[in-house]
Amino acid sequence: MNFLSQLLRLFLFFFYAFTFQNILCNNLSHVRCNEKDRQTLQIFKEGLIDPSNNLVTWSTQQDCCDWKGVHCDNTTSRVTKLDLSQQSLQGEIKLSLLELQFLYHLDLSENFFKVISTPPIQNDVIFGSNLHYLDLYYNDISMDNLHWLSQLSSLRYLNLGFTNLRYATNGLQLLFMLPSLSDLRLRYCQLNITTSLKNVNFTSLVTLDLSGNYFTSKSLRWLFNLSSDISHLDLNQISLSGNFDLQWLSQLHSVKYLDLSGIDLHKETNWLLAMPPSLSNLYMIDCQLTNISPSLKHVNLTSLVTLDLFLNNFNSELPHWLFNLSRDLSHLGLGDSSLFGEIPSSLFNYQNLEYLDLHYNMFSGSIPLTLGNLTYLVFLSIGSNSFSGTIYEMHFSRLQNLQELDLISTRFHFSPEWIPLFQLKELHLDETNQGPQFPPWIYTQKSLSILSMSSSKLSFVVEEKFWGLIAGIDERIDISNNSISGDISNVLLKSDFILLNHNNFTGTLPHLSPEVSYVDLSHNSFIGSIPHNWKKLKHLFFISLWNNNLCGEVLEKLSWSTYLKVINLEQNEFFGTIPNNMSRYLERVILRSNKFEGSIPPQLFFLSHLIHLDLAHNNFSGSIPQITYNATEMIADNYSTPLLVGDDIDLYEKGQVYEGKVNSRRRTIDLSANKISGEIPSELFGLIRVQTLNLSYNHLTGTIPKTIGGMKNLESLDLSNNKLFGEIPENMATLFFLSYLNLSCNNFSGQIPIGTQLQSFNVSSYDGNPELCGAPLTKCSMEKNVVDTIQSIMKEDGGFGEKSLYLGMGVGFAVGFCGLFGSLLIFRKWRQKYYRLLNPMYDYLYVTYILKFNRS
Ligand SMILES: *[C@@H]1O[C@H](CO)[C@@H](O)[C@H](O)[C@H]1NC(C)=O
Ligand SMILES: *[C@@H]1O[C@H](CO)[C@@H](O)[C@H](O)[C@H]1NC(C)=O
Ligand SMILES: *[C@@H]1O[C@H](CO)[C@@H](O)[C@H](O)[C@H]1NC(C)=O
Ligand SMILES: *[C@@H]1O[C@H](CO)[C@@H](O)[C@H](O)[C@H]1NC(C)=O
Ligand SMILES: *[C@@H]1O[C@H](CO)[C@@H](O)[C@H](O)[C@H]1NC(C)=O
Ligand SMILES: *[C@@H]1O[C@H](CO)[C@@H](O)[C@H](O)[C@H]1NC(C)=O
Ligand SMILES: *[C@@H]1O[C@H](CO)[C@@H](O)[C@H](O)[C@H]1NC(C)=O
Ligand SMILES: *[C@@H]1O[C@H](CO)[C@@H](O)[C@H](O)[C@H]1NC(C)=O
Ligand SMILES: *[C@@H]1O[C@H](CO)[C@@H](O)[C@H](O)[C@H]1NC(C)=O
Ligand SMILES: *[C@@H]1O[C@H](CO)[C@@H](O)[C@H](O)[C@H]1NC(C)=O
Repeated sequence: MNFLSQLLRLFLFFFYAFTFQNILCNNLSHVRCNEKDRQTLQIFKEGLIDPSNNLVTWSTQQDCCDWKGVHCDNTTSRVTKLDLSQQSLQGEIKLSLLELQFLYHLDLSENFFKVISTPPIQNDVIFGSNLHYLDLYYNDISMDNLHWLSQLSSLRYLNLGFTNLRYATNGLQLLFMLPSLSDLRLRYCQLNITTSLKNVNFTSLVTLDLSGNYFTSKSLRWLFNLSSDISHLDLNQISLSGNFDLQWLSQLHSVKYLDLSGIDLHKETNWLLAMPPSLSNLYMIDCQLTNISPSLKHVNLTSLVTLDLFLNNFNSELPHWLFNLSRDLSHLGLGDSSLFGEIPSSLFNYQNLEYLDLHYNMFSGSIPLTLGNLTYLVFLSIGSNSFSGTIYEMHFSRLQNLQELDLISTRFHFSPEWIPLFQLKELHLDETNQGPQFPPWIYTQKSLSILSMSSSKLSFVVEEKFWGLIAGIDERIDISNNSISGDISNVLLKSDFILLNHNNFTGTLPHLSPEVSYVDLSHNSFIGSIPHNWKKLKHLFFISLWNNNLCGEVLEKLSWSTYLKVINLEQNEFFGTIPNNMSRYLERVILRSNKFEGSIPPQLFFLSHLIHLDLAHNNFSGSIPQITYNATEMIADNYSTPLLVGDDIDLYEKGQVYEGKVNSRRRTIDLSANKISGEIPSELFGLIRVQTLNLSYNHLTGTIPKTIGGMKNLESLDLSNNKLFGEIPENMATLFFLSYLNLSCNNFSGQIPIGTQLQSFNVSSYDGNPELCGAPLTKCSMEKNVVDTIQSIMKEDGGFGEKSLYLGMGVGFAVGFCGLFGSLLIFRKWRQKYYRLLNPMYDYLYVTYILKFNRS
């Protein structure tokens, strides 16, 4: 019996299992990819490049309905949706894809596609007839023909953002006439709309995003005239020739969402009165608006839910109308808009506020406690004002939803026991004098992504808790310029931006996540060498370890950071050579005061973004590379503008050390105090935008190449303490910006060339060259030199040398003139020749001389 029932149960189990599996299989067989669809997708795939191998599932072994991004209808099994956004795809979009008969949703946004290719039009092929949704946002595509789009008659949503349509402007009306289109997004398409398009019919358009394109005021007015049913209009950052015509705004009766950010409206003092009445979201960020309190009290913005006026210039107190908006107001942005006065408590009657930005104004007084009633508040930024009152826990009594808080340079006092109701993601408390104890309530925040507490006089932290806190932060941590001490060598920092500079950290360097992009650990007391796990910091673009006690080899590890822009390793004990495979994006390389050695790799001078190279006070040897210098930022006259990061680097120029911020665009090469030998290659002076050049304290020999005359931007030149010899090139007298020169302690000889610059320098600029003469040193015995000088200037520089002599006449005159004139008088035979040659100059010299002479 027992056995039988067991058997029965077993039988039943198998029976069910079998039938169930059968059902499952049958069901699966329903979702079998349509062969035609599969072929169409296969052809599409052939056009694309998939460097990250994101489409491995697109193989013939797999059913195409299971391919990544492909969705099939579960009854018809036809492909209805293809979503391949953010897959790092490159190559070509083959539009034969639109032969997928039932495709209604196609999303290829945020890839790197370059080309879009239309198939030859075949009459029997129905082409994208079901497509409702097409998103090509953010690729590298350029289109000059929009014809294929006009066939997509079912299209409701079309996003071509960041597609270059510069040459397709005329085809734009094809888009405006798509009968079902309700959402059209053409953000930053390089459209240049200067004329009215014909036959445009905005029948169904509800959302229109034309931000970042170019319009004339006339074409814009035309557009407004047509689009009276549009409810969402985005004109953010458009550039406009002519004035923006506010009158047309008020005719947009149905517009609810309006973004005019970035349009210069400083002349429009009545902008508030022109706003369409049904607006619920208004963004006018950075519009240079000046008037927030119009004379008319009747501001018709009673439906507003969002108002953002960040970055304007109102110079006013908060206007009355601001307190009579809808109770539904949830977003109020008034940051950095030159507002002042006290914050009345009625501002906090908007119980639905989620976003409140008042930062960087001149608000004064104290902040009303009713702030604590704003239960829904998620974002609160009130830092950088002039509040006199203190902020207490009461101000946050019911803010349980707060996620971002900025109290920069405000005064606050929270009890050490305070446990806030909120869990913040972002906290900004810089310049708040809250030290020396790290505020304990911050330890209660377990979800912080950003913590910024620079310059807050912090010294004491509860070590374990604090390391735990900063180790948890994943986006940006800035606790720079405090006095925090301790050993963080076992801490793993996973933040992308790490600023721990100007503290008293000791021990070896902390561990970093491979994702880190900005590291400033300068001005601490770190010891030891670069940890092994720093090796492959692929995203690093800024690193400063300046002024620590670090040692070991470092540059080879940094060669893996292929996007590095700034390296500052100054004042450590690092050694090793410079590998020749450093990042090609380097802008500033500061290795000063270490123990680096080896020769200077030519590759440094091929870096097209390099503007600051400081290798001073190391043991570099060998000679300066004899190459064609093609560091374009130091050559090109047409300024390409690299993205510069990190301004506070000491620059050593004009014999001084500048602390803090200086002009970060100064082109500098400093190879001083090394063991560099050989001659100065004349090609080096091809870097004509260099402003500071210091080659002093090396073993350089040879003469100064004449090409130095081309360095018209040179302001500071230090060649002292080398073994250079020969004459100082005449054309150095034409370096008009030169305000610091030091040639001392070499073996230069001959006469110092004439010109304001060279004569005006201190004697100590030329000291220690026993055979050098002429002002400001002692007179030369051989006056002939001067004539040679003039002769060679005239020959080499043509008119320029002549002009430079005039310009240089001021200081150099007394010495120079006598020399020249004297010699012309002495060497009579030459006179005729030179009079002819120097005729205009002679006249000038003569007249000046006579005037001077007569006066004295
Ligand atoms: C098709 O699948 C989706 C999701 O898998 C489901 O929500 C829907 O009900 C299914 N439709 C039919 C007709 O089975
Ligand atoms: C726009 O299109 C609609 C519907 O297709 C039509 O009724 C209307 O007359 C058209 N308007 C113009 C100005 O062409
Ligand atoms: C705006 O539309 C009206 C009528 O619809 C027309 O008379 C006027 O000329 C249009 N203005 C512009 C600038 O297109
Ligand atoms: C708002 O806050 C104040 C002070 O904190 C309090 O007295 C008042 O009762 C609160 N009002 C509401 C409606 O919660
Ligand atoms: C560093 O912090 C002090 C206050 O502790 C402040 O006076 C100083 O300006 C800060 N320095 C920098 C560079 O921010
Ligand atoms: C750069 O070159 C050095 C040798 O000079 C080598 O050890 C290092 O692996 C190279 N780095 C990269 C990223 O190839
Ligand atoms: C600079 O010149 C070198 C050879 O002289 C060459 O290998 C390198 O590609 C050039 N770099 C640029 C940016 O032109
Ligand atoms: C050039 O470098 C030397 C040694 O580093 C330094 O003493 C000198 O002040 C520097 N000259 C200038 C103009 O900065
Ligand atoms: C020249 O420089 C030295 C040292 O830099 C200084 O002591 C002296 O005053 C300077 N003389 C003139 C005339 O500027
Ligand atoms: C030039 O350099 C020497 C050291 O080599 C120094 O003594 C002198 O003061 C410097 N001259 C000027 C003007 O800085």
